[in-house]
Amino acid sequence: MRRVGEAFATGGGSRGEDVPGGYRRGVVEHFAVRGGARLTGSVDVVGAKNSVLKLMAAALLARGRTTLENCPEILDVPLMADVLRSLGCEVSIHGRTVLIDVPAEPGAEADYRSVSRLRASVCVLGPLVARCRRAVVPLPGGDAIGSRPLDMHQNGLRKLGATTEIEHGCVKARAEDLHGAQIWLDFPSVGATENILMAAVLAEGTTIIDNAAREPEIVDLCVMLAQMGAKLEGVGTSTLIVHGVTGLQPTTHQVIGDRIVGATWAFAAAMTSGEVTVRGVNPHHIDLVLDKLRSAGAETTTGEQEFTVAMDGRPQAVDFVTLPYPGFATDLQPMAIALSAVAEGTSMITENVFEARFRFVDEMIRLGADARTDGHHAVVRGRELLSSAPVWASDIRAGAGLVLAGLCAQGSTEVWDVAHIDRGYPRFVENLRSLGADISRVAGEPDR
Ligand code: UD1
Repeated sequence: MRRVGEAFATGGGSRGEDVPGGYRRGVVEHFAVRGGARLTGSVDVVGAKNSVLKLMAAALLARGRTTLENCPEILDVPLMADVLRSLGCEVSIHGRTVLIDVPAEPGAEADYRSVSRLRASVCVLGPLVARCRRAVVPLPGGDAIGSRPLDMHQNGLRKLGATTEIEHGCVKARAEDLHGAQIWLDFPSVGATENILMAAVLAEGTTIIDNAAREPEIVDLCVMLAQMGAKLEGVGTSTLIVHGVTGLQPTTHQVIGDRIVGATWAFAAAMTSGEVTVRGVNPHHIDLVLDKLRSAGAETTTGEQEFTVAMDGRPQAVDFVTLPYPGFATDLQPMAIALSAVAEGTSMITENVFEARFRFVDEMIRLGADARTDGHHAVVRGRELLSSAPVWASDIRAGAGLVLAGLCAQGSTEVWDVAHIDRGYPRFVENLRSLGADISRVAGEPDR
């Protein structure tokens, strides 16, 4: 086993293929976290993963060059670039800037291999139906956090006049004409809202999406679409009104800061009795998170695009309930479990969005967490100190939650399958180290 630390993370090694974010394909790695450090200092957060991928897909809606700035340097961005290339686009990535040149007639069939490597790539469905009047997009398959069907995406596109079916592992859609419609979503699905929105902008007439998701990343997408010439009302509300136009123009857009990454650092500060300033995130996007951390005993201050979380002593237990925005984000549920595991008292965490998201709790128990799950609920009795163990990250956020728990564990915790974490957190190890955490990226096979 080789300790490689920061030099490795910036691509200085000799094995494997370097990709943004520090992760190198073909290399087995883990993070070694030694608990006990109090995190202090400031950290910059760049654009949101859950925004940039949809903005890249939205570029398909206009012929010509769209420029995206403040993009996170994570593996999902080059993966999405491959999806767009398979549709005939030219994509180049220059650090945090992504240039997308879309041809007059993009291809309508996304490449199976590219899509299967990136779940979010299903967001090309709406733009392709709008632009090409047909689309073939391979189904991205299952997910560690639970079932992710596309029924609401398909129902919405059908209301707009498309036919859609699932055939040979692909969702196929075709539309002679796209026309405005009234669409009620059963649940404010982020992906369905985005796909329907991106199809409706080029439909004839007015579309009303009711019970629409209103996550800040959807607002970001609306802002970019409006810059491209889309006519939208109700942006940021649960009733999104889209007046179809005949064409859109490419644009230059700055991706909003990643509220999930910012909130992860906020939890890390609260759990380690630290004081961390996060820059590059609109604090209003995590109002509820900051309120929960205040209930746990933290002090918070906010600026326009920054906030500080300071905790004196051990956090008090608080309850968390995940819900669509502006509720507590399901993507932060693992951080809520990690905080509860070291809090004073007992917390109840309720998961309402992804049914399998509690699976990672078994890994938390390996770290000594006193946690029990029953259906949608987890009950966690906090203890002062966790104890180190080898643990496996099953998805991006579970991985981050395990690292946070490792920061409060006695001894050196190994978090494996870090490729998941690298998919969502640019420069994860470097950022934590800059705040004083004892964490390194280590290459080598696990012992078991
Ligand atoms: C997005 C985010 C993910 C976040 C999630 C919820 C991206 C790339 N990912 O995922 O990080 O955790 O929002 O905030 O942006 N559902 C259906 N049928 C559908 C669509 C969804 O039943 O057609 C269900 C899902 O199974 C899930 C719930 O709706 O239980 C929410 O899913 P959705 O909001 O669509 O999540 P994603 O867009 O996949």
